[in-house]
Amino acid sequence: MLLIANYEGRSGTNRAAEILASKENGLRAIIEGIKIVEANLDIHTVGMSSWPNILGELQLDAAVMDGTTRRTGAVGALRNFKHPVEVAYRIMTDIDHEILVGEGAERFAREIGAEIAKNETELSINTWHKHLNDVLTEEQKAKFPDVRLLDIKNKAVDPEKLFDTTVYLSIDHEARISSATSTSGWAWKYPGRLGDSPIIGAGSYADSRYGACACTHTGEMSIRAGTARSVVLYMKMGLSVADAVYEAARDLADLKTGYLDEVTIHAVDKSGNHKVIGLNSSEEIRYVIWQPGMEQPEIKVAEIVRL
Ligand code: GLY
Repeated sequence: MLLIANYEGRSGTNRAAEILASKENGLRAIIEGIKIVEANLDIHTVGMSSWPNILGELQLDAAVMDGTTRRTGAVGALRNFKHPVEVAYRIMTDIDHEILVGEGAERFAREIGAEIAKNETELSINTWHKHLNDVLTEEQKAKFPDVRLLDIKNKAVDPEKLFDTTVYLSIDHEARISSATSTSGWAWKYPGRLGDSPIIGAGSYADSRYGACACTHTGEMSIRAGTARSVVLYMKMGLSVADAVYEAARDLADLKTGYLDEVTIHAVDKSGNHKVIGLNSSEEIRYVIWQPGMEQPEIKVAEIVRL
């Protein structure tokens, strides 16, 4: 058994580890961990009280994958539900689609009785107002929101500091390998923007025959490189988990354009080995691990790879 989560997800890892240790389904374990992160008002990149899009709306993304069946569920640009990761799971279990977005996803969430929530908080709205105040011209302020949003987005401050995600990977007592993600995406994003978190193969992928991978930071990059699927495929082709992650990092670096720095790759193999690397990160990157023998999850430092 093994649990790997990124540092942003640390508030849910005790619960996820407890469920894994009690030999329950590993995908359900990581979903329950992520639900704690989604409800955590101190985390502003996942679930409630996250930084909204440029219109002040919180559009949330999430995905799950059961590596044994290779069924997935993903939800994009979901508004007004507390647990996008649970909605993603129900897409996997209740409908013959793999991804729902926007109004259709909201209709589905209502039909399954998902918990409704106003995810925008005073803090998230005040922070958005401050951002608008900083970036809008006086003319734009007078007309907002009837302005050309493209003009505002281009003034965003350092995009590499504007978002995170939570990602979890698990191997359970039946050797089922699972992945799950949840995020509010890129702060002040253009409405409708999806990052890698709801895109299976980009932000996450799990295959119980080989391993699993999940990425954080600028989703545009892992979408372009197909990072999570690549890592698992490299393991299928015989690379160790570390070499698979290094190879996927080289694929990312070869993109040359975009916000590459600080993309972080988390991966596990079917034997319970793992590797976490941060690309060109200027700061230390931490992650959480739990495996049998540990009383509780532990924080570790990822390798920084410079390419
Ligand atoms: N990795 C999260 C996102 O790009 O939305």
